[in-house]
Amino acid sequence: MSQRRIPVIIDTDPGVDDVLAILLALASPELDVRAIIITFGNTDIEAAHLNILKLHKALVRQFEQDPKSRARFPNFSPDAKISLAKGSSGPLEGDLHSAEYFHGRDGLADVDKRHPDLDADTQDPNAYPMLQFADKPAAEVAFDIISAEPARAVSYIILGPMTSFAQLVRDHGDVVRDRLGQVICMGGALDVPGNTSATAEFNFFADPFAVKEILEPASPATSFPLDRFLLVPLDTTTPHELPFPYYKARVDPAFENSTVPSDPRHKAPLVHFTSAFLERTREVMILFGKDAMELHDIVAVWCAVENPPPSDEELAAAQSLPVLKGAGWSAVHRRFQVERLGEITRGMLVVDRREDEGAYDPGANRAAVQAELEKHGFHIPGTLESNALPAQVEVEAPPVMEGKKPSSAGVPVVTATPGPVALLRMLSERVWGVVP
Ligand SMILES: *[C@@H]1O[C@H](CO)[C@@H](O)[C@H](O)[C@H]1NC(C)=O
Ligand SMILES: *[C@@H]1O[C@H](CO)[C@@H](O)[C@H](O)[C@H]1NC(C)=O
Repeated sequence: MSQRRIPVIIDTDPGVDDVLAILLALASPELDVRAIIITFGNTDIEAAHLNILKLHKALVRQFEQDPKSRARFPNFSPDAKISLAKGSSGPLEGDLHSAEYFHGRDGLADVDKRHPDLDADTQDPNAYPMLQFADKPAAEVAFDIISAEPARAVSYIILGPMTSFAQLVRDHGDVVRDRLGQVICMGGALDVPGNTSATAEFNFFADPFAVKEILEPASPATSFPLDRFLLVPLDTTTPHELPFPYYKARVDPAFENSTVPSDPRHKAPLVHFTSAFLERTREVMILFGKDAMELHDIVAVWCAVENPPPSDEELAAAQSLPVLKGAGWSAVHRRFQVERLGEITRGMLVVDRREDEGAYDPGANRAAVQAELEKHGFHIPGTLESNALPAQVEVEAPPVMEGKKPSSAGVPVVTATPGPVALLRMLSERVWGVVP
């Protein structure tokens, strides 16, 4: 990698998939992870903060037991400490919701109950040499990083509710608009059902007020230029999975479920750590009807790895927007409105299907198509890549811009990735050192 590493700020509510996404970021030499901002969401902010300490402890044990594995994690070293800051502990407005039914009370599938050995037993900052505990609000930490880096260098990755980012724009809008390279945000459901309610994806459900403030700005003072924003919605992330039989075959042969808890004596510390939360996630996912975990947040980190922020020249020279540099990635502009107060539709992205040419064909039920495909089973490798991706629809061709300002054309939405097999391979190699 001769390219300059992309400085990134990760804004996250570390539950199960966030922790895997953070591990992928720490293991990605293309990125320079500068800060982790903790936001409420999957669990409360204190439990979420503790999960980063647990992750730290597991990686340190891993390095002690297998010093060679240090090389796999270029973003985890005492020489380049990652700032750890607490962001928003609740939505801008409205009720606080969390996803403990899925992520457990501790946000990590209740590992603290089954695996006390994984507890971050002390909160003494000196016990975490790879972290710099921030002594100021998250928005100030992000501001310092964005100001100190060259303009348009930093990518800001949102894996949880958009609240802390909205707060950053409220506090430091001018600098953020002027200097931040791009925002990559996992959230929302456009043409597929939600995963928290019938209509909403969890992150957008958790704080639809923040989403509205950023994506439908009421005034320039609370806006962020949407030509430098990439939304990675459930539509695109859902086909990316970690099948548990694959994890068992390639990563941890002893892996079962929480009735057969992971035994630290027989495996690498990092494998024990991930198995300890995945064993419970597996049971929940089986109740949901599949023996696999969906890699939503992991797709967003992958997107950041392969798509550095576009320069102003690249934006100006682009034939069509949005600009995505990575092979196999594409995006289109989509127009929608964010529901904040709905009785049953909080967090829904309301697409006007009478007008939006990019909307999925009315009448074609994407969820039904997906369910039908899944009935035939995933095989790794092989048909997974082709059958799990939503069908290509003619109308998803990028809309012609015709002199419209990009930001008025809608929100750039990632519609294609290099595919689930490519992600599974990258995740396994980088995080667990699985040789393909
Ligand atoms: C819903 O999607 C979000 C994506 O951020 C994920 O964190 C969460 O685990 C998902 N919930 C379920 C029940 O799949
Ligand atoms: C857990 O795994 C064991 C051993 O494979 C199996 O017998 C049991 O049915 C599983 N339990 C659940 C809840 O999936």
